[in-house]
Amino acid sequence: MTAPRVLLHAPPELTAGRLRRLGEGIGKVVYASDHWVVKRPRSPSEVVALILLWKLLPRSILQRPSRPLRFLRVCVQTVMSILPSSVWLSTHVRDVWRIYRSRDRRGERLAQAHLAGTPLVPEVITFPPVRVNIGGWPGWLTVSEATSRVEATLHEHLERLSREKRFDEVRHWLRHFLDVRQSGWQRGLFSLDAHLKNFGVAGDRIVLLDSGGLTDRWHEVHERLVFEEVVTQPHVQLGLGSILAPCPEIAAEFDARWKEIVNLDTVLSHWPHAV
Ligand SMILES: Nc1ncnc2c1ncn2[C@@H]1O[C@H](COP(=O)(O)OP(=O)(O)O)[C@@H](O)[C@H]1O
Ligand SMILES: [Mg+2]
Repeated sequence: MTAPRVLLHAPPELTAGRLRRLGEGIGKVVYASDHWVVKRPRSPSEVVALILLWKLLPRSILQRPSRPLRFLRVCVQTVMSILPSSVWLSTHVRDVWRIYRSRDRRGERLAQAHLAGTPLVPEVITFPPVRVNIGGWPGWLTVSEATSRVEATLHEHLERLSREKRFDEVRHWLRHFLDVRQSGWQRGLFSLDAHLKNFGVAGDRIVLLDSGGLTDRWHEVHERLVFEEVVTQPHVQLGLGSILAPCPEIAAEFDARWKEIVNLDTVLSHWPHAV
């Protein structure tokens, strides 16, 4: 285990100006300066409001976090604050929330113990708490940790390469993605949330941005891989449908390789302890 690099002061660029909102997921909103990102964990009510929206809205809308979606989430939160929790916190929502939170915490712990300091994750630094300005609510944030900013998420990178018709590079990064997943398995780690916005491109590396969903428990890996068996077009499942539409042969090649690699036998052959 490698501890994060400890600095005596926060990098000046974090406090020099207003940080840009760069990305968001269910659990965090991420703000960036030129070389660093800081993360604001969402409050429990924000996360639950997003889970409710997931249940109510079609996936296609939810895949692009946007201003209208943000507005809708705030509306849901307002309704939640008025109605008694027994109305909106159904057993199912409560379960989803609990699972999300425990996977997030466990993933973070596993990443700290096994991935920190390796080329598989971006560098993390810590420093005495500072207040930074952020675009949008709540306007500022106190942070004592920052993560090296990647050039793009793997999803954004592939989107761009496809738009620019650089299909050989698309092929290269997709192969590399499967290699990176396998090097995780060799360490006894499997991501249950391995979608392309949770990985980033840094130089010639692919790094894991979001440790939420990392597991070292074989029964969870098993359950996930049983689900994989019924997926016929993994590239569509990964949100690559439109990105790979102009190059169907790469899509077919990727699906075949995915099927060959992301299955019980292959994962087990990499897994460190015979299970
Ligand atoms: N180091 C980073 N560099 C650049 N963008 C990042 C970085 N970390 C996260 N992001 C962006 O923020 C988004 C949300 O971060 P993530 O850790 O996945 O949060 P969540 O746990 O809520 O899914 C990512 O999908 C990505 O767009
Ligand atoms: Mg994420």
